[in-house]
Amino acid sequence: MKTQALQVELADRSYPIHFESPREVLARQIGHLRDAGHGLAAIVDQGLLEAQPTLLADLGLQPEECLALPAGEPTKATEPFSRSLSFLADRALNRDSVLFALGGGVIGDLAGFVAASYLRGISFHQVPTTLLAMVDSSVGGKTGINLPEGKNLVGAFWQPEAVYIDTTILQTLPAREFAAGMAEVIKYGLLADAELFNELERLDTLHSGSPELAQMIRRCCAIKARVVAEDEKETAASGGRALLNLGHTFAHAIENVAGYGDYLHGEAVAIGLHLAAILSVELGHIKAREISRISDLLQRYELPVRLKQNLPVEDLMEAMRRDKKNRSGQLRFVTLQKIGQAVTSDGIDPTQITRIWEEASAKA
Ligand SMILES: NC(=O)c1ccc[n+]([C@@H]2O[C@H](COP(=O)([O-])OP(=O)(O)OC[C@H]3O[C@@H](n4cnc5c(N)ncnc54)[C@H](O)[C@@H]3O)[C@@H](O)[C@H]2O)c1
Repeated sequence: MKTQALQVELADRSYPIHFESPREVLARQIGHLRDAGHGLAAIVDQGLLEAQPTLLADLGLQPEECLALPAGEPTKATEPFSRSLSFLADRALNRDSVLFALGGGVIGDLAGFVAASYLRGISFHQVPTTLLAMVDSSVGGKTGINLPEGKNLVGAFWQPEAVYIDTTILQTLPAREFAAGMAEVIKYGLLADAELFNELERLDTLHSGSPELAQMIRRCCAIKARVVAEDEKETAASGGRALLNLGHTFAHAIENVAGYGDYLHGEAVAIGLHLAAILSVELGHIKAREISRISDLLQRYELPVRLKQNLPVEDLMEAMRRDKKNRSGQLRFVTLQKIGQAVTSDGIDPTQITRIWEEASAKA
């Protein structure tokens, strides 16, 4: 039976997330667009193409319509961004053209920003191929690239026309990448769905072939869709979309200081979730025993919960001071009131955070 699409309801328009939409469904959609005269282009992850060499042909995309970019975070940068824009311009794509993003969060974020920028905005479709992209980055319209000065410093809110999720594509995803996506799944349980967290604790460790996986992904997307619908551009004075960044203030600082390569995004998030739990205990919100529940679950997926090697705490603090979530010059964190409920916490004493970093490093 076909699983119903989930709608992301926004003020201006809504769009569907199609689940269990196999390649044929997407190939049909691509065919319809071509028949209707839309110019087509796809930005594709090179690593994905190496793992799935027939993918473009299966989708009916012509090689000249596709720009393959190297796998990895360095692709979310100004040079690949400008190369992608030139690719669209060389193909003389116009305002009716449609761009497909085929890959993980790196390609989705980059291609989304390309779509937002080219001719002041063309339509784009997200085809997430990593677990992380399925549960998080492909939904919600945050697009952008990194600068040497920091992560995601340039970008736009630009919502896709549709998102197509097919869990069978995850069969070739390396185990370490799958685990990195699980960090975001665990994040959703922590911030909004205690039952999801409990279920993850109860279930055997999930993998790309687990029968429960599709439902888990749908549950995460439903949480993201609800939060985004309520606060699309993250302007709520407290709570709202910022809650989706649970663990990310720590994670972005780690990625920024360690450089991209040592930690996958989801691995940095795993450490961030652990440190956010420690902060939540220190603020008196959750009990100390909850920290081990959270770190045990993360470690079941072989995710790190501490820094792999020490990083200069002053540099980590400096990276945090530049975090986009900060308000009025004060550090802002997302903390847990309990498992399944997160809040934004402003005005946290920086010395407290310095101590948490030292603790996270000391046992490395
Ligand atoms: N926009 C948002 O709301 C949002 C949310 C969360 C994360 N992000 C961003 O997402 C990025 C991380 O995304 P990611 O974890 O998907 O990493 P990624 O895009 O780098 O992909 C991870 C790796 O998996 C490979 N790959 C992709 N699909 C594959 C498949 N099906 N089979 C085999 N290999 C495959 C890629 O080649 C790559 O090496 C970060 O830049 C992060 O900032 C954005």
